[in-house]
Amino acid sequence: MKINSAIAVAAIAAVTFAATAVIAQQDPIAARKELMKGNGAEARAGAAMAKGDTPFDLARAQKIFANYAEAGAKLPGLFPANSKTGGDTAASPKIWDDMAGFKAASDKFAADAKAAGASVKDLDSFKAGFSAVSRNCGSCHETYRVKKS
Ligand code: HEC
Repeated sequence: MKINSAIAVAAIAAVTFAATAVIAQQDPIAARKELMKGNGAEARAGAAMAKGDTPFDLARAQKIFANYAEAGAKLPGLFPANSKTGGDTAASPKIWDDMAGFKAASDKFAADAKAAGASVKDLDSFKAGFSAVSRNCGSCHETYRVKKS
């Protein structure tokens, strides 16, 4: 019984992963907007913790940085050449003009998030790491996202 349920869990996990990969391939614009919405939710959770609106929670803090690192690793793969336009995208054409630069910005975001995740231990170290990592959001948007309004 135990073995069977382990196999079932593994099978479900494999199907879920495959489905996510297929969605990313079929609709990379929707997939990257979803990913960024996740970043936005984590940013709000982190800001609330940094301000003291929610109590500091080390596990949650580490999770924010882990989610950011994962997002940074996935990001460059969600901008294939056929996704420059459509789907109400705010991605700037600069991404495709300078894919190396965009990839470097994604890598730096992931690396900063990893470093912050490794060094966070209390509220003060969280604030320092969170503000350092958060600078990546604005600097990438400044260069690689078009303002909509
Ligand atoms: C390496 C570049 C890069 C980094 C780093 C980055 N973003 Fe983005 N972000 C983008 C691009 C490009 C778009 C536009 C995507 C589109 O519309 O196709 C975007 C869009 C968004 C959106 C709008 C999503 C929607 O609903 O359309 C939010 C919210 C967002 N980012 C939050 C964040 C936050 C918070 C961080 C940092 C924790 C972050 N981003 C880091 C490049 C980046």
